[in-house]
Amino acid sequence: MEQIILCCFDAVRMLVLLWPLAVLSIWHPGLPKWVDRMIHLDSTILMNLTSLLYLDRSFRTRQQHLQRVSAVVKTEISSDTMEVDITLSPRVNSVKPSKTVAITDQATALAQAGVPVAAGSLILILQQCAVIRLAAGEPDFDTPAVIAEENGISYTPDQILVSNGAKQSILQAVLAVCSPGDEVLIPAPFWVSYPEMARLADATPVILPTPISENFLLDPKLLESKLSEKSRLLILCSPSNPTGSVYPRKLLEQIAKIVARHPRLLVLSDEIYEHIIYAPATHTSFASLPGMWDRTLTVNGFSKAFAMTGWRLGYLAGPKHFVAACGKIQSQSTSGASSISQKAAVAALGLGYAGGEAVSTMVKAFRERRDFLVKSFGELEGVKISEPQGAFYLFLDFSFYYGSTVDGFGAITGSESLCRYLLDKAQVALVPGDAFGDDTCIRISYAASLDTLQAAFERIKEALASIKPTVHV
Ligand SMILES: Cc1ncc(COP(=O)(O)O)c(C=O)c1O
Repeated sequence: MEQIILCCFDAVRMLVLLWPLAVLSIWHPGLPKWVDRMIHLDSTILMNLTSLLYLDRSFRTRQQHLQRVSAVVKTEISSDTMEVDITLSPRVNSVKPSKTVAITDQATALAQAGVPVAAGSLILILQQCAVIRLAAGEPDFDTPAVIAEENGISYTPDQILVSNGAKQSILQAVLAVCSPGDEVLIPAPFWVSYPEMARLADATPVILPTPISENFLLDPKLLESKLSEKSRLLILCSPSNPTGSVYPRKLLEQIAKIVARHPRLLVLSDEIYEHIIYAPATHTSFASLPGMWDRTLTVNGFSKAFAMTGWRLGYLAGPKHFVAACGKIQSQSTSGASSISQKAAVAALGLGYAGGEAVSTMVKAFRERRDFLVKSFGELEGVKISEPQGAFYLFLDFSFYYGSTVDGFGAITGSESLCRYLLDKAQVALVPGDAFGDDTCIRISYAASLDTLQAAFERIKEALASIKPTVHV
C-alpha cells in the first residue's frame, strides 16, 4: 500500500512538477536556478512523504559499520611480530552472507568511490549513472575523534560492527571465533551471559575464580596455569559487572604478556562501563597494549554510560577478519541496528570526551551512592566489601550469614536463599552471587536514588538482624 502511494505520487510529480521544469530549463537561461529550487522542494516533499509512510524504516537502517561511532585503534605493536590464529568457527563458513546486506554494501562502496547517488526522479534523469539505492540506506555519521583519541586505539569503518546492543556484539564474537571443543576462559565473578554464550558456541567455559581479598582481579599465574591448546578466548570485563573492579594498567600488561605467548588465544574485552569509573581509577583498553590490537575484540555500547539501555545499541571493534565474520553472522539474524538509536548514539557521542558534563554528573551521583553503601555495609557485622572502582554495582560477601536459620523462613544456605529471605522479609530485590559464579556474594545495583538506597539499606539491616548467624570461630 505504501509503495502504491509512493509510486502514484512519483508519477504525478514527474508529470506536473518536474518534467515541465526540466524541459523549460533547456529553453530559458534563467530557469536552472528555479529548477534547482524546485528539485529541493521536490525532494523535501518526497522525504516527508517517505518518512511518514515508512517511518524511516528502511532508510538509514543498515549502519553496519558505525563508521563513526568508534574509532580506529592504532596498536602500539612492539617490534617483535606475534602470530595470531585467525581461524574462524566452522559455523561461519557454513553460513551464507545475506545478499541484501551484501548488495547494500556494494552500493555503499560505489557511492564512496564517487559514483553519484540519486535522490529524486529529475536528478536521476540528469545523472544517468547515479546509483539508485533501493536496498538500504547509510546514515550520515562522522567518526567521533573523541572516541578515537580516548583509548589510544583506532579502527577503520570495516573494523567496526554496530549491533542491537553489546550483548549481541559479544554473542556474535563468541560464535565467530569459537569452535566445538574450544575453551573460553572467564574470570569469576562474571557477567551472567558469558558462560552461556560460550555454551551456545559449543565451547567449554573455564571459570577462573578471583577472591574478594584481591578485589576480584584475575591472578596472572592462575590464568597461565589454565591455558592450553584448547584455549581460544579470554573474556575480560573492566569495569566489571558484577564487582565494579577496574583492572589497573600494570595488571593488564602482565596478562597481555601471557596472552602473547599463546597464538591461539584471543581476548574479548567488554568495556561497556568504561565511562563509569571513579578516580583515581582509570580505564585501559586492552587493545591498546603492545601487541594486543591484533588479537582483541573490543565491545562497547550505549546502555550504561549514556543510560540508553532501551535504545539497544552496541558495537564490536577488532581486526577486519574477525569483524567481517561477526558481520556475516549478524547479516542473517538482523539487518542492522535501529536507525533511530544510531541517531541517538550520535547525539550521545556529541556530548564530548567521556560523555561530557552529562556523564560526569551521573558518575558523580553514582560515586556518592557507592560511598554511602560502602560506608553503611562496612559497619554491618560479617559483611566483606571490595570497594568498587567503576560501574554501579556492589558485590558484597554475606557468607557470614550462611548456615543460619530464621524463624518462619528456614535455613539460609547460600546467596540464593539469602536473596529470597531479603525479598520476603525486607522487600528488597537483589541478585544472588551464584548467578555470577560466586555464591559467597550478593549483587546490589546502585542505579537508584540515594533516598531509595538509604531505605533499602535500613530494611536489609533490620532483616539481617533477625538472622542468628552460626558461631564463627
Ligand atoms: C558487562 C556487560 N556487558 C554487556 C552488557 C549488554 O549491554 P547491552 O545493553 O548493550 O546489550 C551488559 C548489560 O547489562 C553488561 O553488564
